[in-house]
Amino acid sequence: MEQTFLMVKPDGVQRGLVGEIISRFERRGFKLVAAKFERLPDARVMEHYAEHVQKPFFPGLKAYITSGPCFLMVFAGKNIVKISRDMIGATNPAGAAPGTIRGDLALEIGMNVIHGSDSVETAAREIGIHFKPEELASYTRID
Ligand code: CMP
Repeated sequence: MEQTFLMVKPDGVQRGLVGEIISRFERRGFKLVAAKFERLPDARVMEHYAEHVQKPFFPGLKAYITSGPCFLMVFAGKNIVKISRDMIGATNPAGAAPGTIRGDLALEIGMNVIHGSDSVETAAREIGIHFKPEELASYTRID
C-alpha cells in the first residue's frame, strides 16, 4: 500500500491542531501506521529540506521548524501521496483553497501548519529519514 510522510509543524502542534489533522486523514479512509512527537535536530532538518538549504528563506524555515516539537506521521492508503497533497492545499496558505488544511487553518507561508511528501519517491526518502522500518505498524485487513 502506498505510504506518505506527514508532519504537523510546531505552529500546528502548539495551536492544538494535531487531532483535527489526524482526523481528516482517518476520515478520508487512510491508515495511520506510525507517529511520534519530536523536536527535529538540526542535522535532520538539513537532510529533510536538502533542496531548500541554499534558499533565502531557509534560515527562517530552520528556526521555525526547530522552535518546538513536530508531530511526525506515516499514513498509508491508495494514492495517498497525491490525495494528501490535495487535502493539504497550496504551500502558501494565502492561495490555498477553502476545504484544504492550509486553506482552513493557516495564513502564512512561513507558518503553514503541515508538511506532506510531494511524490512517491520523496515519501520513501522522507519516511527513511525520520522513521526506522520497525516503527511502522502493519494492519491485518478486516475489510
Ligand atoms: P513544506 O511543504 O514543508 O516544504 C518546504 C517549506 O519551505 C514549505 O512547506 C514552507 O514551510 C517553506 N517555504 C517555502 N517557500 C517559502 C518562502 N518563500 N518563505 C518562507 N518559507 C517558505
